[in-house]
Amino acid sequence: MKLSDINLLDELEKVELAELRAVFRERKFVKGSGIFGPDHNENLVFVIARGRVRVYLAYEDKEFTLAILSPGDLYSTHSGCHIQAFDNASLWVTDVQSVKRCMTEVPLFTRTMIRVLGHILQNAFSIIGSLAFKDIYNRLMDFILREANESGVPENGGLFLKFDMTIEQLAQVVGATRQTVSTLLNDMVRSGFMEKRGRGEYFIPDPEELERAVGR
Ligand code: HEM
Repeated sequence: MKLSDINLLDELEKVELAELRAVFRERKFVKGSGIFGPDHNENLVFVIARGRVRVYLAYEDKEFTLAILSPGDLYSTHSGCHIQAFDNASLWVTDVQSVKRCMTEVPLFTRTMIRVLGHILQNAFSIIGSLAFKDIYNRLMDFILREANESGVPENGGLFLKFDMTIEQLAQVVGATRQTVSTLLNDMVRSGFMEKRGRGEYFIPDPEELERAVGR
């Protein structure tokens, strides 16, 4: 789920932007740790330099993932979301005012922002649709199909898919418990929608059949 193909990291490394690069400070976070919460008191913008970062909403024991951001993506602390290190991560962090000043100088900031926010909005629409109209089994199939279409490797008319995340992380993404996701993945294998190849590795022999099952 790489959100931005334009690379802001490369742009910020340019010699002519050394002054701007200098306003960013690097902060490192251990996988699974909370980075910022909705009540964070600093108004910051950050660029993901290494690892992935999860943006999610949480209420009591429920969580909904809005995005998994990758290196080169940027985000802010003022969106009312929780931000968590999905891997060991390193961020370049600065205050909103510095970004505001440079937004006109570096159009890539605005372009990256639009791409990131556009994808988050797309994901938010899909979550709203899923919550309103689909049960967890369909939500999981829907997610698998999207991942397969984006990063699956074609093989004998089917798609080979490697999840770059643990079952626990996958459960966080679709808003279910780890046990539910394990059971549903096993059910999908038993029903012939997928074949398990290895840890986090699946082969979807007939993606069209899966699409029909999801109701696309
Ligand atoms: C890629 C992520 C984001 C970046 C880099 C970013 C950056 C910024 C910057 C630089 C400003 C100051 C603009 C100005 O004063 O001219 C701003 C303002 C604002 N942003 Fe964001 N933002 C992001 C995401 C969001 C999200 C997701 C929300 C809401 C859920 C949000 C809500 C706002 C609001 C309400 C303001 C106006 C604040 C005010 O004027 O007091 N932003 N943002």
